[in-house]
Amino acid sequence: MRRVPWLGLLLLTLATSAIGSADKMIPMPPDHAYAALKPGPGVEVTRQQCVSCHSTDYIVMQPRGDAKQWDGVVTKMIKVFGAPVNDQDAKTIVEYLATQYGN
Ligand code: HEC
Repeated sequence: MRRVPWLGLLLLTLATSAIGSADKMIPMPPDHAYAALKPGPGVEVTRQQCVSCHSTDYIVMQPRGDAKQWDGVVTKMIKVFGAPVNDQDAKTIVEYLATQYGN
């Protein structure tokens, strides 16, 4: 069997150039279709504030709940996990979630 030394070198070059460019930009993959939030008042704020740490499938897969339950979730995201959401936005998000993902 004939050896092909340049092939290994080529693969190595490709691999290192891929690693080299990885730290410049990390594009987010598109989210699953089922994670799409239902349209409604407040959906934009919710999308902006609630996707920086996890997919919105965390939201759409939750059991439905009233405002009290969603307020608990949003408060936990802010107090426990440090989500940078101000009071006004938190209120909008809870209203949105309780309306679209309520009982
Ligand atoms: C600072 C990061 C961060 C942000 C921003 C964030 N979350 Fe989370 N979220 C988490 C973490 C961490 C978990 C727990 C993940 C686990 O248990 O695997 C979580 C879990 C959840 C869950 C699963 C149920 C639960 O209580 O653990 C829901 C629902 C949820 N988040 C909703 C939201 C909503 C709504 C927003 C927007 C207000 C939001 N998250 C923003 C960090 C964040």
